[in-house]
Amino acid sequence: MEIVNSIKETRKHIKNIKSKGKTVALVPTMGYLHEGHLSLVKRAKEENDYVVVSIFVNPTQFGPNEDLETYPRDLERDSKLLEKLGVDLIFHPEVEEIYPKGYNTHVEVLGDITKKLCGRSREGHFKGVVTIVSKLFNIVSPHRAYFGQKDAQQVAVIEKMVRELNFDLEIVPCPIVREEDGLALSSRNIYLDKEERKDATILSQSLFKAEEMIRNGERNPKVIEDFIINNIKTVNYAEVDYVDIVNGSTLEDVDEISGDILIALAVKIGKPRLIDNIRLEV
Ligand code: PAF
Repeated sequence: MEIVNSIKETRKHIKNIKSKGKTVALVPTMGYLHEGHLSLVKRAKEENDYVVVSIFVNPTQFGPNEDLETYPRDLERDSKLLEKLGVDLIFHPEVEEIYPKGYNTHVEVLGDITKKLCGRSREGHFKGVVTIVSKLFNIVSPHRAYFGQKDAQQVAVIEKMVRELNFDLEIVPCPIVREEDGLALSSRNIYLDKEERKDATILSQSLFKAEEMIRNGERNPKVIEDFIINNIKTVNYAEVDYVDIVNGSTLEDVDEISGDILIALAVKIGKPRLIDNIRLEV
């Protein structure tokens, strides 16, 4: 497994691999890998000849009061995990390699899709995500790129960007990986203390109960949203940012629960702000 910092060298490896007619996968990450990331890597390995994992804590997707400085990093641990899975190349650039002095080009998906849900409280976040992801696509030129469905809005925004900018690759969304008690895996879960960790299970529990209510015939999004908000408020450390029911691919609001439905939420549990969702066909 190669660990490469430079764009030029990464491109050299990819050019060589592609000249042999092999397929290339990209798994973009910010490192501090957990089983969720590893599930993307395993899927990428199954479906492609050559797997690149990028590890880059992207400063442009963090707001001024967010956790850029303290975001967990551990390249040594990450590389051991990736080597075990048979990853071919880790692309681990310095910030200056990606955003050299004077850098001033950004990609932005406009409209409601980036303004609602996480876009409401994380201004500029998706502009940063879409910019880095399109740069990574241009650097690695993968046939397929793998993203976790936990960041459902991120997947929808990237799919739109790929369609509208005619990137020639396939986006492969992969299912959320959960702890045994239902908590969705996230690098930010390490910020939770013991009590908060216990409270954090209320997120998935509320989503699963909401799904049951829908399966039992409830079709009013407001009833489900209110149920989830009130259920989450029963624990000590939770502060709801949003709970929204939208169309699963367009993220447009729905008047009635039917078709492709995404129930998405963001909740502060103590320090970290956690997100979770379920997508269902009704
Ligand atoms: O999901 C993430 O970890 C990041 O948003 C991504 C896609 C790697 C871009 O920095």
